[in-house]
Amino acid sequence: MLFNGQRVRLRKMLMDDTALYHSWRNDMEVMQFTLPALDVFTYSDTEKFVQRITEADNAKSYVIEEKDSDQPIGVTALTNIDVENRNAECIIDLGDKNTWGKGLGREAFQLLLDYAFLEMNLHKVYLRVFSFNERAIRLYQKLGFQTEGELKEQIYRYGSWHHVLYMGLLKRDYVA
Ligand SMILES: CC(C)(COP(=O)(O)OP(=O)(O)OC[C@H]1O[C@@H](n2cnc3c(N)ncnc32)[C@H](O)[C@@H]1OP(=O)(O)O)[C@@H](O)C(=O)NCCC(=O)NCCS
Repeated sequence: MLFNGQRVRLRKMLMDDTALYHSWRNDMEVMQFTLPALDVFTYSDTEKFVQRITEADNAKSYVIEEKDSDQPIGVTALTNIDVENRNAECIIDLGDKNTWGKGLGREAFQLLLDYAFLEMNLHKVYLRVFSFNERAIRLYQKLGFQTEGELKEQIYRYGSWHHVLYMGLLKRDYVA
C-alpha cells in the first residue's frame, strides 16, 4: 500500500516534528553521513529549516514511523521536484541509530520510490551520497540506482578528502 509497508509507514513532516528533527540534526554520528558541513545547530536554525522544507512547493518530506513501536525513526523526502522533466532528488536519513542495518531504510525508501514512480509517475529520481557511506550506496544499488558521476574530493571529513557520488534511477530500472 502507498505510504504503508510491513514494518514502516510514512507520514507528512510537520512543524511539530521540529524537536525530534533537532535531536537527529545535532547527532554527529548520523549527520557525518549526510551533511556536507557539520555544525551544531540552534533550535531556531532547525525551526527555520523545518519550516522551509515543509512549506516548499517543490518538495515532499515524510517522517518514517516504525509500525511496531509507533515511533518516528527518520525522514525521507523528494526534493527539487521538476514537474516538467518528471524528476526529483531523493533523501533518506534514519535519525534513530538503533534502527540501522535492519532493512527498515530499504523498506522506507521503497515506499518513497513507489510513490514517486507508481503514483507521481516520475521518470527519474537521483541522489547524492558520500563515497565512504557504504551502507547507503549498497542500499541504493540494490534498488537499481546506478552511479552517474562523481564530484572528486568534494567533502573533507575525518581529516581527508572524499568524493560525492551522483546516483540515478529511471522508472524502468526500479527494482521494487
Ligand atoms: C543509509 C540508511 C538509510 C540505510 O538504511 P538501513 O535500514 O540502515 O539499511 P538496510 O538494513 O536496509 O541495509 C542496506 C544494505 O546495506 C548493507 N549494510 C548494512 N550495514 C552496512 C555497513 N556497515 N557497511 C556496508 N553495508 C552495510 C546491508 O547488509 C544491506 O545490504 P543487503 O540487503 O545486501 O544485506 C541508514 O543506515 C541511515 O539513515 N544512515 C545514516 C544517514 C545516512 O547515511 N543517510 C544516507 C545519506 S545519502
